Amino acid sequence: MGIIKISDHVYSVGVMNPGLRVFDIVMEAKYGTTYNAYLITGQKNVLVETVHTDFFDEYLYNVQSLVDLQDIDYIIMNHTEPDHSGSLEKLLAVNPNITVVCTAAAQKYLKSITNRDFQCKVVRHGDTLDTGSVSLQFVVAPLLHWPDSMMTYHPDDQVLFSCDFLGCHYCEPTMLDSDIRYRSAYLGEFSYYYQGIFGPFKPYVLAGLDKIKDLPIKAVCPSHGPVLVKEIKERMDDYRRWSAPASGSGKKTAVVLYASAYRCTQLLAEAACNAINSRTDVQAECIDIVSAPFGETVQKANEADALIIGSCTINRDAPKIVWDVLASIDAINSKGKPAGVFGSYGWSGEAVGMMKDRLNSLKYQVLGDGVKINFMPTQEDLKQMGDYAVDVVTA
Ligand code: FEO
Repeated sequence: MGIIKISDHVYSVGVMNPGLRVFDIVMEAKYGTTYNAYLITGQKNVLVETVHTDFFDEYLYNVQSLVDLQDIDYIIMNHTEPDHSGSLEKLLAVNPNITVVCTAAAQKYLKSITNRDFQCKVVRHGDTLDTGSVSLQFVVAPLLHWPDSMMTYHPDDQVLFSCDFLGCHYCEPTMLDSDIRYRSAYLGEFSYYYQGIFGPFKPYVLAGLDKIKDLPIKAVCPSHGPVLVKEIKERMDDYRRWSAPASGSGKKTAVVLYASAYRCTQLLAEAACNAINSRTDVQAECIDIVSAPFGETVQKANEADALIIGSCTINRDAPKIVWDVLASIDAINSKGKPAGVFGSYGWSGEAVGMMKDRLNSLKYQVLGDGVKINFMPTQEDLKQMGDYAVDVVTA
């Protein structure tokens, strides 16, 4: 990707990786990605971010096409995930006089990422950096999406360097949202990126949007994907809408998930759900995880105030679908939520204890050891199940 002028004093000096198909070993990248980096020119020259270490040479070429690297004074690291900080050690090897500007958390991480000493200016929310030409402003936004995250604002050019915020894995060489050729593909990736990266941090997204809502902004420069110059408000509105708390009945919610081979565990699940709905103010939904759409199941599990999960035991384990669901739970937001486990079994019933261990590691508050029933539940067993479920959601 060549150099692109964004505003009077801001240039894109990042790189494209159109062949990438899996990002961070977990995220699909159907259209590749870009590792964005920017140069702010002035009396002092400032870089914003580096790029993935595999692309350092191209990044260096881009920067040096505009300014000699020995004339770079600062590099702002809006966060330190290695796709953006991976080349910092190489950059400092070429010019060790560059001062790194970052949050206190980022300074700590960068020490372990670069394994070298570096000059560092730690900034806090509202701090500024006077470059002689402009007073850059820092908007510290923890957990957007790392603990060290911040954004940087150029008030003269009205450019916001937004870190990963409002970005996406999408690769077109123009870099501007006004010139995107495959708009629906871009919007799909913008949404997917939000869900994967910022979905677990919705309250922090809203707080971040509030922090920048009064800034006049002509360009949003994210760390991946197109720069926003045309639809800034629309994309921010997307984030606000996706992050808004679900509007429902106002009642607390519970989901009762189950995997049942011979209907025994299903009967327990139905007993749990019926008891919650008839005896508490909590609104419960029963979901067969084998037949329900997987994404919907996970979304409901993540959104519910309480989670109760049941499984049969097959060959001393829970079936794979149970582990798939439990592996997809959002570990950021599960801490402290009430949870319960149950299941019918034939030989030994290991699944119930194994699910409890997993929920404990996700920091749910799991009630007791759950309910384990041998083969077909009796009426007494179903009552025990209902009592347990009520205790879970009212704990
Ligand atoms: Fe693109 Fe959070 O790194």
